[in-house]
Amino acid sequence: MSDAFEIHAEAYAEKSSTSIHNALYERPALVALLPELLGKDVLDLGCGSGTLIGELLNKGANVTGMDLSAGLIEIARRKFGEKATFHIADLKEDFEFLNGKTFDIIVSSLALHYVEDWNSLFGKIRTHLRDDGYVVFSTHHPSASRTWFDLTNYFERKLVHDVWSIGGQKVIVSNYHRSLTEMFEAFAVNGLFVESLLEPKPLEKAKEISEDTYHRLTNREHFILFRVRVRQ
Ligand SMILES: C[S@@+](CC[C@H](N)C(=O)[O-])C[C@H]1O[C@@H](n2cnc3c(N)ncnc32)[C@H](O)[C@@H]1O
Repeated sequence: MSDAFEIHAEAYAEKSSTSIHNALYERPALVALLPELLGKDVLDLGCGSGTLIGELLNKGANVTGMDLSAGLIEIARRKFGEKATFHIADLKEDFEFLNGKTFDIIVSSLALHYVEDWNSLFGKIRTHLRDDGYVVFSTHHPSASRTWFDLTNYFERKLVHDVWSIGGQKVIVSNYHRSLTEMFEAFAVNGLFVESLLEPKPLEKAKEISEDTYHRLTNREHFILFRVRVRQ
């Protein structure tokens, strides 16, 4: 994990709940891809401070969240208390914290690109997903990340380093660029397939906050979202 999330937990929690990219672009798109949640067991991978968890609880899900940042999990616990279960854990390690539990829906909002090995990651996801379950997640659009990081080889997986402004401070956040082909291979080797793919557009409301950002996100690829299922 980039230390940025841990060191700037409070400021990142604020940014994630209010910024155009999260609140008016990525999160509504992810929610639109979710199936019925009432009474469903849902796992949120890289849940951070739980910006998605309020929506999941409101729609009647039983929610488990996990994140590597103790600071962000503390904020999530403060917000939701006993209403959801939280674990501090690493996506790169075995999911022992789940004690073998399986889920109807596994969600992840902009967290999986911090993990290099998606074959292994989606293997663990499959193990904890019920046969009729759904994986709904967002990540960087690889065509956008090729441009952001000026990569000469789109197809090569690469650790890239972004500079963000969090709480008025510049911080470096590192993540992996990978091609669509590599993403689909990780699904396929684990018996998963893509049921829906979404290249989102921002909500109209974003225009009132920043016309520039609204137009950029309306005209160009930025994030990409998937709804993945188990091949029967
Ligand atoms: C961009 S933030 C998104 C947080 C949250 N999903 C949201 O939408 O507000 C990425 C999250 O991934 C978490 N993360 C990064 N690497 C991780 C890892 N190896 N294991 C677990 N969580 C990780 C970070 O701590 C951070 O909370």
